[in-house]
Amino acid sequence: MKENSSNNSRRVLAEPVFSDAGLDFSSTSYTGTRAEPSLRDEPVRSVRNIRVEKSNQNFMHPKKQVAAIRLVDFYGHVFLITPDVLVPRPETEMIVDAVLNLVGKPYLSGVKPSPAKLPTDIKIVDVGTGSGVIAITLKLEIPEAEVTAVDISDKALEVAKQNRDKFDANINLLKSDLLEKIDFEPDVVVANLPYVDKDWDWIDKEALKKEPEIALYAEDHGLALIKQLIDQVAKRTIPFLILEADPCQHDDIINYARKKGLERLETRGFVLTLSNPQVSH
Ligand SMILES: C[S@@+](CC[C@H](N)C(=O)[O-])C[C@H]1O[C@@H](n2cnc3c(N)ncnc32)[C@H](O)[C@@H]1O
Repeated sequence: MKENSSNNSRRVLAEPVFSDAGLDFSSTSYTGTRAEPSLRDEPVRSVRNIRVEKSNQNFMHPKKQVAAIRLVDFYGHVFLITPDVLVPRPETEMIVDAVLNLVGKPYLSGVKPSPAKLPTDIKIVDVGTGSGVIAITLKLEIPEAEVTAVDISDKALEVAKQNRDKFDANINLLKSDLLEKIDFEPDVVVANLPYVDKDWDWIDKEALKKEPEIALYAEDHGLALIKQLIDQVAKRTIPFLILEADPCQHDDIINYARKKGLERLETRGFVLTLSNPQVSH
């Protein structure tokens, strides 16, 4: 088993990133935006705020009372989350930040924009979309982009569809094993694939039982799917690949990607931006 570096660099998957404590569950309406000052007073579990609001309604079947369904904030937007999908984590928002940086729309003033400077009408594919949080947020942030979201799970795609409808976001949803069914060349592939290694002894497996295994675990020290995706991207003319992984996995991913001809462009938190120098300039 690979030794992990430090607790600080460990993924918050090890513990729930949301909590009822101190949050107002009296309403299902969203009152905040990503940077709204009022949210700053609420409990912070990770690098960013996460706001969880309770719903006693099942959006798909409004008459059913389904306590397990939650509304979760991601990037200032409230998404429907069911037990069929991963609860979005705050660190995943950095995938959105990384794409905004590539198209010259840095999310914070003072952030050095990427030298890549892609146009905003890019084609983006989100692999392993789950609830659709990344794909839908990207469409909301970059309306000119053509966004396609894929997942291997029918149940996850159903949740993504509900969220697509909720936001009236014009994204394509497709069942696909990684990029298998993508028959065009995207400019950017983003992916928060399963990367938890079942042998990691620091993770709270009991807490993770509330989420689907298919969204969490991967073979080969958690890197099997990420490596497969790197292989697929490297074989095609895809300029950028943005991945989330535990920081303890980053060196292995960068080394693997290098062998396949991809370079590391940027690392921020859990998110790695890789580029294919053959096609990214
Ligand atoms: C860690 S979850 C990420 C969900 C969402 N993108 C997020 O960030 O909250 C990983 C997702 O990848 C999907 N997945 C697993 N294996 C896959 C594969 N071979 N091809 C496509 N999607 C896959 C799972 O069904 C799950 O929805």
